[in-house]
Amino acid sequence: MKKLVTIALIFGLSVNVINSQANKNVAEIDASKAKQKISKYIYSHFSEHLGHCIYEGIWVGENSTIPNKNGIRTDVVEALKKIQIPSLRWPGGCFADEYHWKDGIGPRNLRPSMINTNWGGVTEDNSFGTHEFMELCNQLGCEPYISGNVGSGTIQEMSQWVEYLNSDNVSPMTQLRKQNGRDKSWGVKFWGVGNETWGCGGNMKPDYYSDLALHFSSFLKNYGSNNLRKIMVGPSDEDYNWTETVMKEIGTNMWGLSLHSYTWANTKSATDFDEAGWFDVLNKTLRMETLVTKHSEIMDKYDPAKSVALAVDEWGTWYAVEPGTNPGFLYQQNTLRDALVAGINLNIFNNHCDRVRLAAIAQVVNVLQAVILTDKEKMILTPTYHVFDMYKVHQDALLVPTSLQCEDYTFNQKSVPSLNMSTSIDKNGVMHITICNLHATKEQVLTCNLKGYDVSKITGEIISADKLNAHNTFDKPNEIGIKAFTKFKTTKTGVDVTLPAHSVVMLTVDGKRQVSDMTIKPKNPKAGLKYDLYEGTWTKLPNFTTLTAVKQGVATEMDVIKGFPELNFGVVYKGLIKIEKDGMYDFGLSSDDGSRLIINDECIISNDGLHGMVEMQGSSYLQKGYHKFEVQFFQGGGGAGLQLFIQGPDMNKQLIPASMLWYE
Ligand code: AHR
Repeated sequence: MKKLVTIALIFGLSVNVINSQANKNVAEIDASKAKQKISKYIYSHFSEHLGHCIYEGIWVGENSTIPNKNGIRTDVVEALKKIQIPSLRWPGGCFADEYHWKDGIGPRNLRPSMINTNWGGVTEDNSFGTHEFMELCNQLGCEPYISGNVGSGTIQEMSQWVEYLNSDNVSPMTQLRKQNGRDKSWGVKFWGVGNETWGCGGNMKPDYYSDLALHFSSFLKNYGSNNLRKIMVGPSDEDYNWTETVMKEIGTNMWGLSLHSYTWANTKSATDFDEAGWFDVLNKTLRMETLVTKHSEIMDKYDPAKSVALAVDEWGTWYAVEPGTNPGFLYQQNTLRDALVAGINLNIFNNHCDRVRLAAIAQVVNVLQAVILTDKEKMILTPTYHVFDMYKVHQDALLVPTSLQCEDYTFNQKSVPSLNMSTSIDKNGVMHITICNLHATKEQVLTCNLKGYDVSKITGEIISADKLNAHNTFDKPNEIGIKAFTKFKTTKTGVDVTLPAHSVVMLTVDGKRQVSDMTIKPKNPKAGLKYDLYEGTWTKLPNFTTLTAVKQGVATEMDVIKGFPELNFGVVYKGLIKIEKDGMYDFGLSSDDGSRLIINDECIISNDGLHGMVEMQGSSYLQKGYHKFEVQFFQGGGGAGLQLFIQGPDMNKQLIPASMLWYE
């Protein structure tokens, strides 16, 4: 008997896990179906004023004997740079909703103190504030993600923080920033409108929060060309009613909706466990699959174009604190079991990258499932760090839909699939397959059938250890890390891999993606695009092929203003895109209202619906030559705008240049 569990829908294709009693593990990996980008922001981290995360873990001050740059410890920054952290969330967590940002600017000796009521009741002296956090992000080369205070702050306070950070106008806030030593705005994009407002952030009901979020949001302005990506408070775990209400009330007026879900074993030790503890934690981790699927289904009802991201911006294990440490500081060790938890969650997020476009593990240093632990001048990298190091190749790569049939891992009459995996192709065409073997005691042989890909060379890496609770300590910092892995062999259809019990493995598959020639050979291409203009009132893109154009012409650029009506019209630009070099091209389609990008008769980006200027992304592998190209757009009420950005081999992100647009 086979049990079919759908774990994700990617571009209409199911990624399935089939638990089979037969001892046969098979993965079908089809490179020709790789379309959806795995946002690098899935690999984000979270830093809160909690225990020794900020203080000691990151901030030691300029006068510390611990090597630092501008007060931020150098060892931690260097380690985090290696895993390419794309964004960092701050200042909380629960702390965010009692944080008043003006207390954390200006001369440090004049900053007022406060009590950190959520985390140990310690005195917070505000020596790490806005400028220090922005310096940290600058040193890390990552995007800041700031959580604003809705619970105990005011709209004015939050709106002024955005102005302080992002405006270059002449204003009291920008003057204040300059007085504090920073001339130019920082251009912060990710903005959390509160944190856990259903709990520590205000104990609100979802409809009350929805109103409040819209109210706050109206005063969070975009300055210059910077577009704030507002992330509204989403559900905890299975609170589907919260998602339903917030999506109904706020809909697409946000960049993202957060989801917080921890793997709870909070009465149990992080290091002292047997197979029952191993199984329990991995079984609980797999719940993330259901959560992401079900919350996404609700979001699909209100946002079928998937323009709102699901941002899993707090996830990870939560155990009893290490003996002898402050219970309010949430300091825990991290073992091979946590490596599996990280590998499984990241595989799940990768497989759901059509909706999950940001995730942040809690937390980056010294708190919960930390990637780094510090003790005064000492620092160790945890098994979870090594998973982030291994998996960084998935950042901004294209997801390769994978269907997996595998044996069950049964313990005490409960069963889970023994394997969990995801696959991607990076911008150089290299495929990476990450596989977790959850089974505590049994190795698994997995047959990977690779379609649409010519393999030239395979190499492997593994994170595993003899003991389930293997971990690094300050005395033995290298007990567990990444090692070379060779237990695989190429076959006629792909590769067979022997996964040791309790392991995280990555195969790097070098080769070439098989792509059919999609170029066309125009006889007499001319510069520009043809356009057809339509009149009508829509809330979504109509089927333009059934309508009659009121005007036709040729445009040298995509433009929705000149010569077009102000309201209630649609336009279809059609022609060819000229590509100079084979490779992966990333597009960003920004519009107010709906739009769609179609290349070679395939929808690359759907940015449909009535909304403000919102950018959606998509990618396509394009060969040198001309390709069929079409952009559809409609304008309902309010403002109007349409911009298409392109980034590809030898091209930085830019508005699509006229030199790439042709027609025949
Ligand atoms: O990460 C620790 C806490 O967990 C955060 O402050 C809060 O948002 C969540 O409940």
